[in-house]
Amino acid sequence: MRYLVTAALPYANGPLHIGHLAGAYLPADIFARYLRLRGEEVLFICGSDEHGVAITLRAWQERTTPQAIIDKYHPLLEESLRRLGISLDYYGRTTDPLHHDLSQRFFLRLLEKGWLEKRKVEQFWDPQASTFLPDRYIVGTCPHCGYEEAYGDQCEKCGALLSPADLIHPRSRLTGTPPEKRLSEQFYLRLDALQPLVEAYVSRCHWKPNVGPVIQNWLRAGLAPRAITRDLDWGIPVPLPDMAGKVLYVWFEAPLGYISITQRWAASRGAPHRWADFWLNPDTRIIHFIGKDNIVFHTLLFPAILIAADEGYTLPAAVPANEFLNLEGQKISTSRRWTIDIHEYLRAAPHRLDELRFVLTALMPQTRDRDFTWEEFASRINNELVATITNLIHRILTLLWRYGGEATVIPEGKLLHTRAESARTIGARLEAYDFSGALEAILHLAQLANKGLTESAPWHLPPEKAVGVVASYADLLAAMGTLLEPFMPLHVAPKLREQLGVDLLNWRRLEDPTPLLSSIKLKAAPQPLVPKLSPDELRSMQTQLLPTAPASASPSVAYISIEEFQKVQLQVVTIRSAERIPKSDKLLKITIEAADGTHTVVSGIAQHYEPEALIGQQAIWVANLAPRTLRGVSSEGMLLFAEGEGGKLIRVAPETPVPPGSPVQ
Ligand code: 2FM
Ligand code: ZN
Repeated sequence: MRYLVTAALPYANGPLHIGHLAGAYLPADIFARYLRLRGEEVLFICGSDEHGVAITLRAWQERTTPQAIIDKYHPLLEESLRRLGISLDYYGRTTDPLHHDLSQRFFLRLLEKGWLEKRKVEQFWDPQASTFLPDRYIVGTCPHCGYEEAYGDQCEKCGALLSPADLIHPRSRLTGTPPEKRLSEQFYLRLDALQPLVEAYVSRCHWKPNVGPVIQNWLRAGLAPRAITRDLDWGIPVPLPDMAGKVLYVWFEAPLGYISITQRWAASRGAPHRWADFWLNPDTRIIHFIGKDNIVFHTLLFPAILIAADEGYTLPAAVPANEFLNLEGQKISTSRRWTIDIHEYLRAAPHRLDELRFVLTALMPQTRDRDFTWEEFASRINNELVATITNLIHRILTLLWRYGGEATVIPEGKLLHTRAESARTIGARLEAYDFSGALEAILHLAQLANKGLTESAPWHLPPEKAVGVVASYADLLAAMGTLLEPFMPLHVAPKLREQLGVDLLNWRRLEDPTPLLSSIKLKAAPQPLVPKLSPDELRSMQTQLLPTAPASASPSVAYISIEEFQKVQLQVVTIRSAERIPKSDKLLKITIEAADGTHTVVSGIAQHYEPEALIGQQAIWVANLAPRTLRGVSSEGMLLFAEGEGGKLIRVAPETPVPPGSPVQ
């Protein structure tokens, strides 16, 4: 069988976090690796989604261009995926000219087939920025929960789906001004007319229990025509003469990226026509791994586009979407900095990558949201990976080494059957997209083997008998070297095979209860594959990777005017004295010299600075902050500190000393 496995194309506007990994990239990789081990033909692709509002908004926030944003994040995304062992055959990008060309051809084809219709619609316009505003560019108060930063398409606080007209006091995210309404012309895809064809497709597929009902809800409500063009200056131009300033809607073209990336892969292999083996061949199974927020686009919109083109495109065979992974009980949020980003994990714990894959597989949100906690991270590593799996491996290898390191393997029927049955169970669960269930089956196999080994107690037998008993377990280890590969391919599985001197095996062989080895010879004394995670190591990872609490800052930038900024009076001051405030472990009482003499400021920095170290240093002082009393000490104004890595506070001061009282502007 031929398979095309895809993982959602991440927006090139920010880093990947553990939720992305558990949601789409890890299951896709485990699946692709498993299929390859069965000897199937597999192409596994992904790439950066580089158009759309997500990119332009980030560019606006960072005061730079969309091109600069995607050029920054595209390599970061690719590198993060590669280093975590996501075994992609190709990682592309949607700014590829091949992709622009393909998307424009699809648009024209759908127009020619009569599936598109032009409509005049009222849209929001930012008079200050002279641009139309997509729904996401508008914020205002949610009519349901009163949250003041709700987006024009959704309230992130209460989850309500909104349209910009629902917002109370709407304002542009770009300039803060209230938007106006203007007429604009857009192309609509006639999803209503395509619904019967889409329904016929949907009924032919088998959907995961968390996916099927979502599809049915949409279909029951009736598909509505959907705008597939936008007024935006970043994206794929609408390929018609009178449509300047309009681009294709990102959800129209991004899924076509799966096709264009396959084309790019084929071209890179010197066989450009090979993309058709996947996309114009009903015998190929196309499987899209995504997160739940993408379900409608992959199960309805994308198939509708492929069907509408009527050129024999292969439709997705399965869309095994996952739900969301939360972090310590709260939704992961990049803007609120409540996240564990992959590139930062790679920096903080480069020797703990298979461990992350293991825990995220165990916690995979396959049918419901799951929660990642550091406590569970440590306990899964120590109590499952180390205590059960790698401990079994180490016990067997150490015993073998003790008995001379080499032996003839005399197969033990019960063990062979247990192993073969486990391999079939693990395979069946993977094929049902039950990745955590498959991992549980491996743990179960290791538990059984640990128990069996303890019960047969070879250490009580004379060495010549003991070695035979231990060697019979070598078959299981040889199988483990392959069974563990889809889950932990970076260190655990290859190191096991190396210690054992065996290669990767075809998965089908593991399902057959015949011996995998006739003899075994260890080259060196076995080393534990995974060290326990100590409380110190865990604490160090936590401080490097997570801020103390989710910042409650608004997810959008709340701009202020220069006049508002000028209300804040900033001065350089010199610190004359500093002392701890009794009974407080956070506060220091600091005397500063400012333009008009000395003042007292209370600062919450006692855990970051010794009082003596501050005396004589300069700092930036907010002079006109209303005074307040802290622990009985009246505090005037505030000194500024930067928040460094791990929440450490660092004094902000001029590069070279200046007279105390110098203004900062
Ligand atoms: O939600 C997202 O991150 C999208 N960039 C996923 C796109 S998947 C595909 F359709 F391109
Ligand atoms: Zn709300």
